[in-house]
Amino acid sequence: MGIEVVVEGLTKSFGKQNIWQDVSLTLPAGEVSVMLGPSGTGKTVFLKSIIGLLKPEKGRVLINGVDMVNSPERDIMETRKLFGLMFQDGALFGSMSLFDNIAFPLREHTRKKESEIRRIVMERIDVVGLLGAEGKLPGEISGGMRKRAGLARALVLDPQIILCDEPDSGLDPVRTAYLSQLLIDLNAQIDATMLIVTHNLDIAATVPDNMGMLFCRNLVTFGPREVLLTSDMPVVSQFLAGRREGPIGMSEEKDAATLAAEQTSGNGWGHAAPRTVVPQLEPSPGMPVRQAALRRRERVVSMMGQLPEAARTAIMNSYTPTLGGGRR
Ligand SMILES: Nc1ncnc2c1ncn2[C@@H]1O[C@H](COP(=O)(O)OP(=O)(O)O)[C@@H](O)[C@H]1O
Ligand SMILES: [Mg+2]
Repeated sequence: MGIEVVVEGLTKSFGKQNIWQDVSLTLPAGEVSVMLGPSGTGKTVFLKSIIGLLKPEKGRVLINGVDMVNSPERDIMETRKLFGLMFQDGALFGSMSLFDNIAFPLREHTRKKESEIRRIVMERIDVVGLLGAEGKLPGEISGGMRKRAGLARALVLDPQIILCDEPDSGLDPVRTAYLSQLLIDLNAQIDATMLIVTHNLDIAATVPDNMGMLFCRNLVTFGPREVLLTSDMPVVSQFLAGRREGPIGMSEEKDAATLAAEQTSGNGWGHAAPRTVVPQLEPSPGMPVRQAALRRRERVVSMMGQLPEAARTAIMNSYTPTLGGGRR
């Protein structure tokens, strides 16, 4: 099963520009988490900090006892092998076939024989539904297929932690829905810890076990999906409703005068209709049961007492077969 990632008091600046401060959260082993946030709030910087490519000036990122911020570089390099990364653009080599693109990490980082490489690559190509396209060049396939190829490449080294940076960018809603299902099926098959950075509301509503949001240089909240999905914090409800009214402005934060005017103008933010929490996606028929979902259920039930009322209700409904569809 995947590995827990513990982030403690992380603060990152570039020169005088603080990106976020004092971010603490735990990605539970094998569960799927989503980090939401408007553009420019430092989501990509957060992912790069987790794998130790960027160095926050304060805090720790603990993975199997290795601190990805402060440990010796060789320990960080070793721990980085546990990761699979799917970056924004798929980052495929344009002159290489999908097969060669997906085989690349194996050829680069292992001494496996070509026959073994072929077996692994074809297996991953199958997992992401690209069988038959392995000979194509990235330029010959759709954006959605390129995303899936990027995901297949992230999988060849058997990662225990998978980071996806805006896996939906450039995809239409239907392709995004397929991708959401693929991520859940993948989690059922390999039980890896997954962190998905996105501002796609459909992914946020249907994929993760846990969800957080970055805004205004802070982690607004992080916890079971139901907490954020039922939150009445202005910034969260504005974001989830995709409204203009609220603390999020065009350049991320509105100035104080605009905010005050909005709040007194009756354009009021606090009046969003209560949101219903749609059920989380289940693995496709024939897929194994998500072990992480079973673990998560125990974990969440044990923390019920600390959760807000609306979140508790949503969780209870989701775990009641007659009301929430239930889990196997
Ligand atoms: N290597 C870097 N050097 C300086 N500033 C950076 C660097 N990487 C990102 N930033 C800045 O950090 C902020 C957050 O960027 P990013 O993490 O890409 O946001 P998001 O992914 O949420 O859209 C931006 O203002 C960006 O300009
Ligand atoms: Mg980004």
